[in-house]
Amino acid sequence: MKAIVVTDQAAGTAGMKLTERPKPQAAITDVLVEVHASGFVPTELAWPSTWADRLGRARAPTILGHELAGVVIALGYGTTGLSVGQRVFGLTDWYRDGTLAECAAVEARNLAPLPGDVDFTAGASLPISGLTAWQGLFAHRRLQPGHSVLAHGAAGAVGSMVTQLACEFGAYVIGTGRAADREKALDFGAKEFVDLDNDALGDIGKVDLVFDVIGGDVGKRSAGLIRTGGTLVSVVGPPETRPAEGVTVDFVVESDRAQLSEIVQRVRDGRLRTNIGNISTLEDGVTAFNRRERRNGKMIIRVRP
Ligand SMILES: NC(=O)c1ccc[n+]([C@@H]2O[C@H](COP(=O)([O-])OP(=O)(O)OC[C@H]3O[C@@H](n4cnc5c(N)ncnc54)[C@H](OP(=O)(O)O)[C@@H]3O)[C@@H](O)[C@H]2O)c1
Repeated sequence: MKAIVVTDQAAGTAGMKLTERPKPQAAITDVLVEVHASGFVPTELAWPSTWADRLGRARAPTILGHELAGVVIALGYGTTGLSVGQRVFGLTDWYRDGTLAECAAVEARNLAPLPGDVDFTAGASLPISGLTAWQGLFAHRRLQPGHSVLAHGAAGAVGSMVTQLACEFGAYVIGTGRAADREKALDFGAKEFVDLDNDALGDIGKVDLVFDVIGGDVGKRSAGLIRTGGTLVSVVGPPETRPAEGVTVDFVVESDRAQLSEIVQRVRDGRLRTNIGNISTLEDGVTAFNRRERRNGKMIIRVRP
């Protein structure tokens, strides 16, 4: 089968190659999925799990990509809950070969049914960004109606989901990003916008929750904005500065069938909009990932037309 792989950690995206790899087998409790669309997070090339297995042994050549939407074509031994021919979407294991490929073997529990009226491109755009937002707002913390939320990178993949979900649950959302992101962030539901390059972040006053997808200096400045009892949620590693009278949560997203179903139901009924930027084919994927222009939403590879 065709797949996009990396073998050289130092080469970055320039080291990505479209090549032939053996079609995977469905292991115990797996399904084999014919991939129709796959999502890609560019930071994946820096994740340790892209290069080593859970025991620290080198595992390249590695097939990239951890989000997919497709159709189940085979079941592993003991697999329950999904059937051959079913449309599915979800988030795959960080340490296994991924979804920028014609087929992927995935544990069934990492997938949810993809309703027939949600196309594969939309399905592949949701798992990482949707689940990350959901888990940061509702699983690791319990967002309450009326809370104020500072959503960093509000026009980006995760930030746009944070903004929309927090708004739906009755929070007052302040989005941040670059100057060019203002309209997009407001359109996703933010009530105010802070241009991090030109506005003073401190002017917003205190908030109940900061959702940090940027880290570094932005993360440090954010800690001081947390109200007593509030939360700094980080998905870019443990914050270097902690809020004086609040709590800190940092986590890595996990797949969850019930949460995926909540997210896709919101796309179906219009409560949640996808944020899809560039869409490429598998053949054009390597070129697309190496473009220098600014990303404008999730990068999706349409593996089958
Ligand atoms: N822990 C987890 O489970 C988890 C899950 C999902 C994502 N993540 C991480 O979260 C981060 C964001 O992911 P994403 O997919 O949402 O990326 P994304 O789509 O690129 O969104 C990030 C947004 O923040 C903006 N931004 C970044 N630095 C900025 C700065 N200094 N000032 C103003 N705006 C800035 C970006 O603009 P520019 O493109 O112009 O920089 C972009 O609009 C990545 O590091 C990713 O690895 C972690």
